[in-house]
Amino acid sequence: SKYNVAVVGATGAVGQQMIHLLEKRNFPIDRLKLLASSRSKGKVVPFKGHDVVIEEATPESFDDIDFALFSAGGKTSKYLAPYVAQSGAIVIDNSNAFRMDPNVPLVVPEVNPEEIFKHQGIIANPNCSTIQMVMALKPLYDHFGIERIIVSTYQAVSGAGNQAIQELKQQSKQVLNGEEVSKAILPVGSLPIKKQIAFNAIPQIDVFEENGFTLEEMKMVRETKKIFGDSSIKVTATCVRIPVVYGHSESVYVELKQSYDLKQVIELLKSASGVVVIDDPLQQEYPLAIDAAGKLEVFVGRIRRDLDHPNALNMWVVSDNLLKGAAWNAVQIAEEIIKNAK
Ligand code: A2P
Repeated sequence: SKYNVAVVGATGAVGQQMIHLLEKRNFPIDRLKLLASSRSKGKVVPFKGHDVVIEEATPESFDDIDFALFSAGGKTSKYLAPYVAQSGAIVIDNSNAFRMDPNVPLVVPEVNPEEIFKHQGIIANPNCSTIQMVMALKPLYDHFGIERIIVSTYQAVSGAGNQAIQELKQQSKQVLNGEEVSKAILPVGSLPIKKQIAFNAIPQIDVFEENGFTLEEMKMVRETKKIFGDSSIKVTATCVRIPVVYGHSESVYVELKQSYDLKQVIELLKSASGVVVIDDPLQQEYPLAIDAAGKLEVFVGRIRRDLDHPNALNMWVVSDNLLKGAAWNAVQIAEEIIKNAK
């Protein structure tokens, strides 16, 4: 059978990738509805050789919709998703709005697929940085248990949307031309204080919490525990925006519950679904953001023992933040639901 699918945030960095993936995966679509704000009303997007006109997203937009993929920010999701779920559609939401809601499954299909079928109309896509990290940790969690994680991220500007991509490009030109740098978006679109991203590294992604961590860092802490269904995992994160357009990189230190054999760890990662190991120091081979851009997998390299703790290891985890970190994970969830409906 075929499905009526809506993409909310169709003009956005993630929404555009959702549309692209629905086409590329040949998702069984009867009708595709593309929704965004009133600003985008009437714009046209090609899909499978036809033009689809973008409409303004309203509570009435979702009659007859089977799947609604949301990536239009938390406010839009909070406002619209409950209507959509009520009308019988399944919402797959890429925003932060419902991730920690106990009635909303938070799903990475390779990690906790069983959660998908507990949904009550809304399924949440985890944060991009969390998704790629738990993909690399899943086989280690299953075989050894995880005591603690210390992660530092090197995150692409596309995670902050299309305007942030433009901002990096414009600032880079301005710096090279010796012009004054204009700052409008980063680090956080909704906050008045701005920082230069070109030729810089910004240790702030999303707003600060009272504990001194940023919301992005706390997303990694909270979501990791929820996805593994294990609140005993200790997590500490530092999230940094760097001048890369596509692909988040992460330095992950993980303390396992037992001693381990490094060769076995590498074999486990190699056989994990959706994970690709690129790790050959002698050939200077390791994952790079520019190589991961446009790919669906999570790439892992620099896998090495910690020098002091017998149960700990370090690795470098890279993935396209718009794909496995967002659009692909969402489309994958929809594909899982369809597979089980057959
Ligand atoms: P629009 O282009 O009409 O503003 P990005 O993450 O790249 O910044 O994209 C954000 C996406 O969310 C865009 O598609 C944007 O549409 C959409 N969006 C923002 N605000 C709303 C809203 N109030 N209702 C529906 N879509 C929205």
